[in-house]
Amino acid sequence: MEAEGWNDRYRDTELVWGRGANQFVVTHLSDLEPGLAIDLAAGEGRNAVWLAERGWTVTAVDFSTVGVDKARQMAEVRGVDLDLVLGDARTWEPENPVDLVVIAYLQIPDPDRTQVLRRASGWLAPGGTLFIVAHDQTNVSAGYGGPPDPAVCYDLAETVAALDRLTVTVAQVVERLVDTPGGQRMALDTVVAATAA
Ligand SMILES: C[S@@+](CC[C@H](N)C(=O)[O-])C[C@H]1O[C@@H](n2cnc3c(N)ncnc32)[C@H](O)[C@@H]1O
Repeated sequence: MEAEGWNDRYRDTELVWGRGANQFVVTHLSDLEPGLAIDLAAGEGRNAVWLAERGWTVTAVDFSTVGVDKARQMAEVRGVDLDLVLGDARTWEPENPVDLVVIAYLQIPDPDRTQVLRRASGWLAPGGTLFIVAHDQTNVSAGYGGPPDPAVCYDLAETVAALDRLTVTVAQVVERLVDTPGGQRMALDTVVAATAA
């Protein structure tokens, strides 16, 4: 989906993704020492704001103007600063190396997806972490929600292969419980963390 589609979706709902950080972001990043972070495809800002509350200096990038505005509002309400950037993940580049790059549910097809992951690997300072969480390809047939198009979903082996400049420390397909009107359902996510030498 391109930026206008995301603008429409964000206009239609108060907060599509909620206020709380993604559960895997919390599990895997809580113990990191704060520094400079990029949240690529930050959406309404739930993960960026959570990082900023923990002391990170966060650049939040998204190509949806409505998403960026909502992230600005969330940051104001929660009393934190974000460096908000309207940018396309397929072309945007940071000026300086960072200690953490978060890419959460950036569901775009290859070759763009692999190119983004490769480029993001190069943004890390020594010891920095790249953290990816996304709808897994297996979710299309066996999980709840997420995009129905497997081409925009992640494959664990391909994701790991794209990070060949880094040391992969976490590579899992994980279950995520989703509350629905019909009860709890299971979604399947790719979770990968990797560090720069
Ligand atoms: C499923 S939402 C996830 C938002 C956020 N990362 C989160 O976990 O709450 C996907 C986001 O990716 C953004 N996005 C999709 N393609 C993009 C691109 N090429 N460049 C920048 N942002 C993009 C959309 O605007 C949307 O905000």
